[in-house]
Amino acid sequence: MCVSNADVSMNAYAPDGADGSADVSPTSRALLLLGRGSDPGSERGVDCPGELPAASDETLVDRARAAKAALGDRVFILGHHYQRDEVIQFADVTGDSFKLARDAAGRPEADYIVFCGVHFMAESADILTLPRQQVILPDLAAGCSMADMARDTQVYDAWDVLSEAGIADVTVPVTYMNSSAAIKGFTGEHGGTVCTSSNAERALRWAFEQGEKVLFLPDQHLGRNTAVLQLGLELEDCVVYNPLKPNGGLTREELRAAKMILWRGHCSVHGRFTAAQVEAVRARVPGVQVLVHPECTHEVVGQADLVGSTEYIIRTIEAAPAGSSWAIGTELNLVRRLAEAHPDKLITFLESTVCYCATMNRIDLPHLVQTLESLVRGEVVNQITVEPTVAAHARTALDRMLALPELVPAVAP
Ligand code: 13P
Ligand code: SF4
Repeated sequence: MCVSNADVSMNAYAPDGADGSADVSPTSRALLLLGRGSDPGSERGVDCPGELPAASDETLVDRARAAKAALGDRVFILGHHYQRDEVIQFADVTGDSFKLARDAAGRPEADYIVFCGVHFMAESADILTLPRQQVILPDLAAGCSMADMARDTQVYDAWDVLSEAGIADVTVPVTYMNSSAAIKGFTGEHGGTVCTSSNAERALRWAFEQGEKVLFLPDQHLGRNTAVLQLGLELEDCVVYNPLKPNGGLTREELRAAKMILWRGHCSVHGRFTAAQVEAVRARVPGVQVLVHPECTHEVVGQADLVGSTEYIIRTIEAAPAGSSWAIGTELNLVRRLAEAHPDKLITFLESTVCYCATMNRIDLPHLVQTLESLVRGEVVNQITVEPTVAAHARTALDRMLALPELVPAVAP
């Protein structure tokens, strides 16, 4: 597996994404390697206790099957679409982050929710499930570099900057699901909502009914793409707040004039797709339709034929006629599975040098076996718990999202 995000420490701090450029120096936190040391405020860099079975152990599939059977209805396994095949085969449900949040909340009888995804998803599951239910992330180092780009203290500082500019009262925070519980808590406490790539349009429409401006965290690309392509705002209505610069690198006038204040964060996987790659695939594959995730840059989304969340990408391919050709710009595990499931369609990865999400891929069979066998023995390992006050505010923001009416999540540029 090539390394795509948090394994490359600087990547996590190169907020613009596509060009990989960073105008900041690495911090000691940026140099913290996955799985070494501990940074509880971070989405990564956390040790996992206990002995892992060897990856070469040929009995792993049987062991996982036996442990899952022994646990029966007491365990509910959720698998995000970007998970490895070896893990996804054990998921009771698969989905994008929105569907999985709903699914987690919909199984109150399970004692254990094993979340095969990343840290912020498991936190959301803990917030949405009953207090007696225990949420487990099989590898605690499965974080998200995008979520790490918005630290709670940075967001509090940003709010102070908005207050000093006299606009905090008319600004509604909207945070992407891909953020820590602390950021969701801040959002709930300040009258905002969570959104996912499935419902960002509805969330933004709701937010603009509550206030005049939106502070969108932490993915600048999802925020910009949704505001411009779905709400019809101008690019000039959007400014980018850089948490590493004094006052976000913005003047008061710029903040006052903006409708969308975009946090300077990005996905290290989707940020690697480029408009040149779209052009190249169109030259290479006649009649190809380009289908990308809205975490891609505005330039890429503008060049694509269709844009939507992972669930939308799956539905689009399922509904496509036999013989049609597709270049898909999202995580490789999902694209590979789609290609295997639809041999009657030509499905290619938008760009061969873009890799798996390194942190999603940390959940592997040895970690899943370790988790399930520990549960069979009555030991709960790698539990994710959110501090109750943070959880209460984050729940407010998540409940606002779950109450948003469903919308068709496509963007036609
Ligand atoms: P969705 O699951 O909302 O499509 O988001 C993709 C992603 O990057 C999850 O980490
Ligand atoms: Fe985070 Fe991107 Fe990986 Fe999703 S795909 S977990 S946003 S780094």
